Amino acid sequence: MFISIIVGSSRQNSQSAKVGQYVSGLVSVKHSLHSVKDLLPKLWDNDAFESTKEQSAAKNELVVKELNQADAFIFVVPEWNGMVPPAMKNLFVICDKELAHKPALLVSVSAGMGGAYPIAELRMSSYKNSRVCYIPDHVIVRHVEQVMNTPDSVNEDDKRIRDRLAYSVKVLEEYAKAFQSIRESGVIDLAAHPNGM
Ligand SMILES: Cc1cc2nc3c(=O)[nH]c(=O)nc-3n(C[C@H](O)[C@H](O)[C@H](O)COP(=O)(O)O)c2cc1C
Repeated sequence: MFISIIVGSSRQNSQSAKVGQYVSGLVSVKHSLHSVKDLLPKLWDNDAFESTKEQSAAKNELVVKELNQADAFIFVVPEWNGMVPPAMKNLFVICDKELAHKPALLVSVSAGMGGAYPIAELRMSSYKNSRVCYIPDHVIVRHVEQVMNTPDSVNEDDKRIRDRLAYSVKVLEEYAKAFQSIRESGVIDLAAHPNGM
């Protein structure tokens, strides 16, 4: 069992990276933690879909290995102008079958009271061709600068969000076990049905 944690902020020393680091300490199985910018340094900027060869070329070895071997994902995504950052959306343009029929936990991050939009955006539009399966639980980390700064929680809000993350990671791990049998069932046929409707 392997869980890939991907941080969707492309900023240096982002708060999302801090949250990703905290979340990685909660995962009880083998896992990795990467910024999406390190996985896919270049934004898709060519004639998309003109050539599947170009799409393949955009996938470096790290991203293919990382995503293929993952049984589940945790996406830690900040809210930027009420949206998911382009580096994160880039992942869903370039990658698809590597994510297919694998459960994912969404964790959104806001410096203020935001954080709902990235959840709504990813739940609405990122799964069609990737077939990534978002679990019903998600976590919104609000006032991120005030939480997860010390080994132990410093107040009720800090404790509450840590507890929620710990619970959601446990739930994801159970989904990850269960989804293995779906992928091994022989029913999934991405060659015949490469795109969702
Ligand atoms: C370009 C940009 C736009 C932002 N827009 C929003 C926003 O719409 N809503 C919000 O709650 N926070 C917004 N923020 C603040 C982020 O919530 C804050 O930077 C937080 O630390 C998460 O982002 P980070 O992981 O990149 O640090 C924005 C930040 C940047 C850099």
